[in-house]
Amino acid sequence: MKILGIETSCDETSVGVVDGEGSVLANVIATQVDIHARYGGIVPEVASRQHVLDILPVCEKAITEAGIDWGDIDAVAATHGPGLAGSLIVGLNFSKALASSLGVSLVGVNHMDGHVYGAWARMGDHGLMPFQELVGEQPIMCLVVSGGHTELVLLEGHGVFRLLGETRDDAAGEAFDKVARVLGLRYPGGPEIQRVAEGAPDAEPLPRAWMQGTDNFSFSGLKTAVLNRARKLGIYPPSASGEPVDPSVVAGIAKAFQDSVVDVLVTKTIAAAIRENCAGIVLVGGVAANGPLRETLVEKSPLPVAIPPFKLCTDNGAMIAMSGLINYRNGRRDDWDLDVIPSLRIGTTSLPVT
Ligand code: KG4
Ligand code: ZN
Repeated sequence: MKILGIETSCDETSVGVVDGEGSVLANVIATQVDIHARYGGIVPEVASRQHVLDILPVCEKAITEAGIDWGDIDAVAATHGPGLAGSLIVGLNFSKALASSLGVSLVGVNHMDGHVYGAWARMGDHGLMPFQELVGEQPIMCLVVSGGHTELVLLEGHGVFRLLGETRDDAAGEAFDKVARVLGLRYPGGPEIQRVAEGAPDAEPLPRAWMQGTDNFSFSGLKTAVLNRARKLGIYPPSASGEPVDPSVVAGIAKAFQDSVVDVLVTKTIAAAIRENCAGIVLVGGVAANGPLRETLVEKSPLPVAIPPFKLCTDNGAMIAMSGLINYRNGRRDDWDLDVIPSLRIGTTSLPVT
């Protein structure tokens, strides 16, 4: 059994291949970050056009990397949303054409399910933790933190998700990206904030929105607090004369911001996992690449924590192939009528910080 997964929901064109055991045979990612960096965020029309250019070469490279032929593919899994409409249309239509020309099944995958199942893909020495084998026997808490979403989802059975809470405003990754822009750092902001915050002295803490009594999150107040502090310290808006800003001031704000996001995500996820009697916690999505978030969750959680390697955290085709394998096994095999589910929230990072 070989499933090819195609991901084009945002600014990565990626194709992965998994076998029937969920082992990753290939995971090729063509990222557009350098193209969008000059605009300070994703420009949807530019993203769709780049997917058109990249999709076939990336697919061919994945077939070569997996050491298979086109005829070995048993199903094509495609992200159909949520994401940028134009980007999704490229990948979904390519997938439909590929599956129909090969005479194999087309399996639709929700991007968020894909992120969760990135944690179930086996790659190199990276295997599963014992609690991950308990799907269906005991619930598993999944924190999905990306540029477009921040969700606490309970995995109750394979392919059976219950949304417990989500952000009421900005996604965690979106907040990282916008705060980075206020601090004069490049896009994508998450890795930049992590980099400059490393080794920074403790700064005055920034607020935490606990959203008490719910599993929801909110990051827009924190973002405003960053903006106000940056204004007060004279680093935002950038000076017209191009005067350089003190890197230690930027580092201090970046660290206080990151500490606040990590504290809220970790505390609420652990509390929800204990309350729901979970077997363990899974941390996925692009923001799961954040070092302090990974370390703090593992350190503080009394339950076991599984976090996929970086290449399975940010958008990638292998996670879509893995989620496609689950859908295929659940009998979802011929999604020929599938349409895209656009999400207006993604791709707005080039707009002014609000
Ligand atoms: O899952 P993903 O690749 O794409 C979406 O589905 O949105 O997530 C991208 C997000 C961006 O907002 C980026 O800033 C964030 O993940 N990110 C990070 C780190 N690496 C990527 N955030 C914090 N720390 C990181 N090291
Ligand atoms: Zn994503």
